[in-house]
Amino acid sequence: MKNIRKEIAQLLALRIEGLGAEEIEKIIEIPTDKALGDYAFPCFRLAKLMRKAPQAIAAELAEKLSGEPLFDRVENVNAYVNMFIARAYFTGMTLSEIFERGACYGDSDEGGGKKVIVEYSSPNIAKPFHIGHIRTTVIGSAIANIYDHLGYDVVRINHLGDYGTQFGKMITAYRHWGSKEAVEADPIKTLLAYYVKFHEEAKNDPSLDEEARRAFAALEKGDPEETAIWQWIRDESLKEFRRVYDMLGISFDSYAGEAFYSDKMPAVVEELKAKGLLKESRGAQIVDLEEYGLTPAIVTKSDGTSIYLTRDLAAALYRKKTYDFYKCIYVVASQQDLHFKQLFKVLELMGYEWAKDMIHVNFGMVSLEEGTLSTREGRVVFLEDVLNKAVDQTARIIAERGLGAENAAQIAKEVGIGAVVFNELSNSRIKDYTFSWDKVLNFDGETGPYVQYTHARASSVLRSGAFGPESFAGGIDYSYISSDSAYDLVKLLYSFPAAVAKAGAEYEPSVVTRCVVDIAQSFNKFYHDEHILTDNEAERKARLALTYAARQTIRNGLAMLGISAPEKM
Ligand code: ARG
Repeated sequence: MKNIRKEIAQLLALRIEGLGAEEIEKIIEIPTDKALGDYAFPCFRLAKLMRKAPQAIAAELAEKLSGEPLFDRVENVNAYVNMFIARAYFTGMTLSEIFERGACYGDSDEGGGKKVIVEYSSPNIAKPFHIGHIRTTVIGSAIANIYDHLGYDVVRINHLGDYGTQFGKMITAYRHWGSKEAVEADPIKTLLAYYVKFHEEAKNDPSLDEEARRAFAALEKGDPEETAIWQWIRDESLKEFRRVYDMLGISFDSYAGEAFYSDKMPAVVEELKAKGLLKESRGAQIVDLEEYGLTPAIVTKSDGTSIYLTRDLAAALYRKKTYDFYKCIYVVASQQDLHFKQLFKVLELMGYEWAKDMIHVNFGMVSLEEGTLSTREGRVVFLEDVLNKAVDQTARIIAERGLGAENAAQIAKEVGIGAVVFNELSNSRIKDYTFSWDKVLNFDGETGPYVQYTHARASSVLRSGAFGPESFAGGIDYSYISSDSAYDLVKLLYSFPAAVAKAGAEYEPSVVTRCVVDIAQSFNKFYHDEHILTDNEAERKARLALTYAARQTIRNGLAMLGISAPEKM
């Protein structure tokens, strides 16, 4: 598709001596007041170059551009050249691009197949997969989808928290009080109960702690008995996590978690030592980062055991070697900002120039209306329960509204889960936010249900008008869709690919969400302002073509966000 801003810059460059199209492109503005045109070119900067008053230059340029077929009209106001794009031309260009590209509209080959790792979700096994995990899971998956659509070769990694001294406690607790059946019936809740019991009992019986230490040491050495229990806990936890991933339609290429790197850590420690980066501090081995305004990175604890950061160092080296990534993106809460600063700095000090390709995509906290979420106080809100509740409530709402007659259960699922995901991706990621059921499920707000409903409405209009991809063949007379509400919609559809690229560059899926909401609102305005299924065939066809393009773009946007787009509601 043609880039209109570039086209304008070229037209101007032909008429301005001494200023190139690239420079001109940067000066072109989009007026906030639509009445002043689609694009404007301020001439102040040309005054010196052309030795003329800016107002005179603007008047002259406006005159010279007037005959160009790209414009319906060009006006001069003060020192500005105000340009009104030829609506029928612009609409034809945008809509044909959307028909041609279909599900690929919005994609690009920016990535050229370069490898990008997106690491997201990464819950800790044997611990609840709670509402707090929703952000990394949903934002990470959307970022992976967006990079995929931008032409990168994406590797999705779930860096499971499946390692650490707590597994010594878990194994000990299981040996004392565990039941295989109980765990398999309800893995996480049961394992969590054992863990809590361990801490209670250990208060009076310190020998339990000692036993747990031994169990972990045995696990680290690869003792078959401990390893088998650990493996089983991991498998059972993953079964439960997978249930949630399936509900969300989310997948991974690799579940290589922290444990995967346990045998790769001694080499990292050796390397740090060889490079002269390690220092002893109260028995622990650290990398001093004071010079960089960071607290020391602890590499091994005083008892010789490794920690989280060391496993991340090993993981980074392994990933570079295995995937030779162009970028490695970590979608992890801002509580871990310091951790990633330390990690990236240590890699840099190790002499890896690719440390600059490591990106921590952070995000704020989610709290429930009742108060902040907490695992410690036992007020855990499981993500699965939230999703199920969303589906139940949606089923109730669509029944009340008389929607979803044909396939109510399926629609309740797609809309309920879509609502939660959409809500998550509406907020700019860095902001803390409060999860509110009323906001999530509001069919009239800027929500998932609203957008999905708009998509279903457009689909229904297309069914009534018997309009499909083949309908374009005979040609469309775009002059029938040049009203303000139609043109505003076309402009938004045109902006979609740029929104996708921006979302990728800023690791901010909410840019796509925003664009999709804008398109839905604009389509609804068009739908209310104009009668689509008119008797005049050419007019009807043109309006249906716009409806088709709007539906396609909404659907593509939802797909990137990981949300389904039902045809009927
Ligand atoms: N398992 C960790 C947690 O739940 C998140 C892991 C983040 N990823 C990483 N490479 N450190 O807090």
